[in-house]
Amino acid sequence: MPVITEIEDLRRIYRRRVPKMFYDYTESGSWSEQTFRENSSDFDDLYFRQRVAVDMADRSLNSQMIGQDVSMPVALAPVGLTGMQHWDGEIKAAKAAEKFGVPYSLSTMSICSIEDVAANTSKPFWMQVYTLKDDDFMQRLFDRAKEAKCSAAIITVDLQLLGQRHRDLKNGLSAPPKLTPKSVANMMTKVQWGMGMLSTKRRFFGNIVGHAKGVSDPSSLSTWTAQAFDQSLDWDRIREFRKMWDGPLIIKGIMDPRDARKALNVGADAIVVSNHGGRQLDGALSAIRALEPIVEAVGDKIEVHFDSGIRSGQDVLKALALGAKGTYIGRAYVYGLGAMGQEGVTRSLQVIEKELDMSMALCGHRDIKGVDRDILMVPKGFSDGWDQEPPAA
Ligand SMILES: Cc1cc2nc3c(=O)[nH]c(=O)nc-3n(C[C@H](O)[C@H](O)[C@H](O)COP(=O)(O)O)c2cc1C
Repeated sequence: MPVITEIEDLRRIYRRRVPKMFYDYTESGSWSEQTFRENSSDFDDLYFRQRVAVDMADRSLNSQMIGQDVSMPVALAPVGLTGMQHWDGEIKAAKAAEKFGVPYSLSTMSICSIEDVAANTSKPFWMQVYTLKDDDFMQRLFDRAKEAKCSAAIITVDLQLLGQRHRDLKNGLSAPPKLTPKSVANMMTKVQWGMGMLSTKRRFFGNIVGHAKGVSDPSSLSTWTAQAFDQSLDWDRIREFRKMWDGPLIIKGIMDPRDARKALNVGADAIVVSNHGGRQLDGALSAIRALEPIVEAVGDKIEVHFDSGIRSGQDVLKALALGAKGTYIGRAYVYGLGAMGQEGVTRSLQVIEKELDMSMALCGHRDIKGVDRDILMVPKGFSDGWDQEPPAA
C-alpha cells in the first residue's frame, strides 16, 4: 500500500490508474485555466498567525451545515461522471462520506442514479440539480430526490452553458467512452479500471437516460447540455424551482454580493461561493478572494458555504476563518476515488481532517466552531481595492 500523506499523492496515483479522458475531465479548467489555477494558488497569499502555549488537548471538528451534524465542515461537492472515475463511483463516494460523517452531494450528471445511491447507503445525501428547460424533468428530479429521502437540494446556477474545456473536446469526452483507436489504446493500459467497468452495468448517465425527453445523444456531455440546459434562466425561474422543493435549499455558484442577496430573496437556506472549480468563467476571481465580501453582505442572514480550489485542511481552515460555515471538496476527493475507490475517498477525507485539526490547534484553537478571522493575516486588497466596486444591488 503506498504511503499517502497529502492529496497530491492521491492525484499522482489517480493519473496512472484512470483513462486520460476522465483524468483530463477532472484536472481541467475552462479556456486558459487562469481561474482554475488561481483558485488554489490564492490560498497561499493568506497566512496563519501561529500561537503558542495554548491548551490544545481535546479538540473538536464537529460542526453543522444547514442544521445537519457533520464530523467536520467539509462536504463532498457534486461531481459529474464520478462513476467513470471508478466503477460505481457515486455509491462508493457516498459510502465513504457516510462513514466519515460528512455530507455527500450527488450530481444530476452522475452515472449511478439517485435511486441507486439511496438503495446502497443508509444516511440521506444531498441532491444537486442543474437548471434545465424541461419543467416535467425538473419536477420529477425533485420528486425523485424527495422519495430517496435526500436531506437537501443544491441548485447550481452557474452553468446555463458549459464553459469550454479544450481537452474534453479534443478527447471526445462521453459516458460511456466512445471507442476510438486512441481511447482504446489508452484504456488498455488501465487494466483495473477496465475490469471494474466491465463488472458493472452503471455506465450511462443514470439520472438522465430514460428520464429526459428529446435528448438525441445522452452520452455526450456537451451535446446534452447544449440541448437541455436553460440559457434563459433568471431569478423568477429559480423561485419556481424553490416551490418544487420544500426541503433545505442550497444555491451554488455565487461570486457576487448582489447575486448572494438575490439568492437570499428566493428563499435559499444556504449559498455556495463557488466558481465551479474554475470550469465556467475563466478570468473570474478566485473563489477565496470572492468569499469575504459575500459573507459581509449576507452572512448574518444566510449560511455561506465555500468551494473551489481546496486541496488541504489548511485551505479549509482559511475559508472558515474568512466566514464560511462549511466547505466542499471536488477534485480532492475525485483523486482519491480514481486512485483507490471508496478507500481512496476515505483517505482524502482523512488527509484533510488531520491537516485541518492540527493547523487549527497550532493557531491556538480547540473547537472549529470558535475559529474566526483572527487566526489569519490577510493582505490589504486581498478581496477589495478594485478600481470599481460593484454598485449595491
Ligand atoms: C470533474 C468535475 C465535475 C463537476 N461536476 C459538477 C456537477 O455535475 N454539478 C455541479 O454543481 N458542480 C460540478 N462540479 C463543480 C464542483 O461541484 C465544485 O464546485 C468544484 O469541484 C470545486 O472546486 P475543486 O475541485 O477545486 O474543489 C464539478 C467539478 C469537477 C472537477
